[in-house]
Amino acid sequence: MPTVSEIMQTMEYGPSVEDSGAVRDWLKAHPSFGHFINGAFTPPGRTFPSVNPATGEDLARITQGTAEDVEAAVKAARKAQPKWAALPGHARAKFLYAIARTIQKRERFLSVLESMDNGKPIRESRDADIPLVVRHFYHHAGWAEMLADEFPGHSAIGVAGQIIPWNFPLLMLAWKIAPALAAGNTVVLKPAEYTSLTALAFAEICQEVGLPKGVVNIVTGDGETGAAIVASDVDKIAFTGSTEVGRAIRAATAGTGKRLTLELGGKSPFIVMEDADLDAAVEGVVDSIWFNQGQVCCAGSRLLVAESVAPRFEALLQRRLAMLRVGAPLDKSTDVGAIVHPVQKQRILDITAKAVAAGADLIGGAPAEACFIAPGYLRQVSPANPAWSEEIFGPIATLTTFRTADEAISLANNSSYGLAALIWSESATVATDLAASVKSGVVWINGANMFDAAAPFGGMRESGYGREGGRVGMLDYLTGPKVRPASEKPAGPLTAALDGAASGAEIDRTGKLYIGGAQKRPDGGASYRAASGDLVPFGNRKDIRNAVEAAKKAGKWAAMGGHGRAQVLYFIAENLSLRRDELAKKHGGKAVDAAIQRLFYYAAWADKFDGLNVQTKPGYLVNVIPEAFGTVGIVCPNDAPLLGFISLVAPAIAMGNSVVVIPAQDDPVAAFDLAQVFDTSDLPGGVVNIVSGPKDELAAVLAAHEDVAALWYCGIDGAAAVEKASTGNLKPVWSFANRDWTGAAGQGRAFLDHAVQWKTVWLPYGALPAGTGSIVY
Ligand code: NAI
Repeated sequence: MPTVSEIMQTMEYGPSVEDSGAVRDWLKAHPSFGHFINGAFTPPGRTFPSVNPATGEDLARITQGTAEDVEAAVKAARKAQPKWAALPGHARAKFLYAIARTIQKRERFLSVLESMDNGKPIRESRDADIPLVVRHFYHHAGWAEMLADEFPGHSAIGVAGQIIPWNFPLLMLAWKIAPALAAGNTVVLKPAEYTSLTALAFAEICQEVGLPKGVVNIVTGDGETGAAIVASDVDKIAFTGSTEVGRAIRAATAGTGKRLTLELGGKSPFIVMEDADLDAAVEGVVDSIWFNQGQVCCAGSRLLVAESVAPRFEALLQRRLAMLRVGAPLDKSTDVGAIVHPVQKQRILDITAKAVAAGADLIGGAPAEACFIAPGYLRQVSPANPAWSEEIFGPIATLTTFRTADEAISLANNSSYGLAALIWSESATVATDLAASVKSGVVWINGANMFDAAAPFGGMRESGYGREGGRVGMLDYLTGPKVRPASEKPAGPLTAALDGAASGAEIDRTGKLYIGGAQKRPDGGASYRAASGDLVPFGNRKDIRNAVEAAKKAGKWAAMGGHGRAQVLYFIAENLSLRRDELAKKHGGKAVDAAIQRLFYYAAWADKFDGLNVQTKPGYLVNVIPEAFGTVGIVCPNDAPLLGFISLVAPAIAMGNSVVVIPAQDDPVAAFDLAQVFDTSDLPGGVVNIVSGPKDELAAVLAAHEDVAALWYCGIDGAAAVEKASTGNLKPVWSFANRDWTGAAGQGRAFLDHAVQWKTVWLPYGALPAGTGSIVY
């Protein structure tokens, strides 16, 4: 035992280990677990161990779920759902509240269990994870209470299948279960195979609070069990995990009508500007990627540092790195715990070795016994290095320098991911400018890993889609007012007539596409006979590519702002009304009149589709901002050639997107007539591009195109193919049934909801509490 004066000399912390007695007693009473189905635990089946990665000891045995287990769980959830949804919001709120209270009472127990099962330091599970779990259930108890008032006309989706990873086991469970239950859904959740214990402890809490049977079902097991959930009779899949599995789930659910939200990987930029508070930024690195073993999807794993301050920043970083304590997760003075599993440790070491072989310098990052790896970072990592783009998912950041803000943005966005971005600058102007420019679902300014149940979290691009948290997150567990589908006239057979087959004059008059604000001959010059008898252009793959290029160049449209875009939409409506009688003769007066009204409607919305300023904690300005996707592909119904077109194009462009539209296959003339109206209405070239031709062939090209950020597809039969074709860049695909476009179902907020992606920007103001780093507890 060291003497007090010896301790004073070294200033080393002595061990301060959290008591694990209560957890060990619980584990002794539960040597092996079955699933939690219909309110009861099933007898254990074929089991595998859940291992403490810090010590290698087996904690308990977990059952590998079979397809039959999944089916039983889904059946229980299905049976319980109508009753659960029919409960008054207040009754559901009371259950969620009771869960929150009970978890709060067990905070210490659950933190210790989490740290033992996952390897994360008790500081993280006790101070961040579990308090956030509690906050999630309280927050969503509130949404249950207010559901009828705040989401009129909405109802639960049904049964949600939820698959979660191992990095935040109980927190991910809360993120998934709390909103689902608040909205009236029932769930079948699968925890990750490495970390199922807190989910099973949660199941006991469900029993304890008397949650109706079947509302929450927990099935344990590995990826096979997960795949069985995806294939089962659920109405929605909510998945958090790797991009690779996310893609497989996208492909498996294509065309099934199952709603899907994906929260996938990231390679988030951590931008340190010249004027940053470097000490704070270094502390941000610690919070973002070192304290949690880097096992965080939104870790700021790519450090981008202004060249002029890089030497000083690195000196501070290395000094801090040397002070981090790696060790026993249950020791309260441990900063960095164990990696979750030997497989994961090996992955981290492999990618790091590849990065070093490609020329990067590794500072720190040495492997140690068991599942430990010392934190570190790789220097001189260029975009060509594998560590630039591959998720390391360990406590190893990369460091790259830049010279100008423009270069910082282009490096930040040089990634297929778009989950989070961290920005360090003392200048509000610089920081907010960067925040607007980065492509990510979450932006943290001068802080890291700030989470709250009220603040939506989720990604863009290959980081997935859908949001968890707050009002926006609730929408992902609700269905909007029901729309009566209208049968759609099937598109007629389409045969291309080559140039020579029709008279040249005829083709010159009618056979042009609309790309980049100008008429363009289709590639190859083919045309086909529309239902109206006109010859119309037969677009192909190359035309779609040209149209996407033109749409990309129309980026300034979003920058015009809502008011500017509204002016153009009003002007289109005005010019359309000038040609009302002429177009009414061709396309019907009712359709033209409704189109004029619809343009007014979306012009009205253009400057009123507001973001939110959400209540998280005092001291944080948290804005949730609707952002345009960029280029949206739109596949129009074959019916209602004029009104269907306007009903889809107007909301998409009102929100600042540019669009590539496949008009009604049988009768695209209406779309080209509208293009003439656009030309006289100050609509910048490239905002709307029209490629007529074989609907599903062209739709597949749009779906697979990397630069089309979202796709709307009207029609049911072709939905499966476009959803499957979209797995490459994981774009959100909104497929919906044809409807009566003249009626109320033809317009509304739902169209706008699908035209934006949400960016949550956190801006702390005032001084952060001393010594807490920047994590919001
Ligand atoms: P993973 O994506 O394989 O596992 C996540 C969850 O999905 C687990 O519950 C797993 O059992 C389940 N799963 C696996 N295959 C499935 C399938 N075919 N169908 C349905 N469910 C399936 O992630 P893994 O292997 O644990 O980690 C690999 C890498 O994924 C990590 O190194 C990291 O890069 C990334 N990752 C990202 C996470 C995030 O939060 N975005 C979380 C965990 C991992």
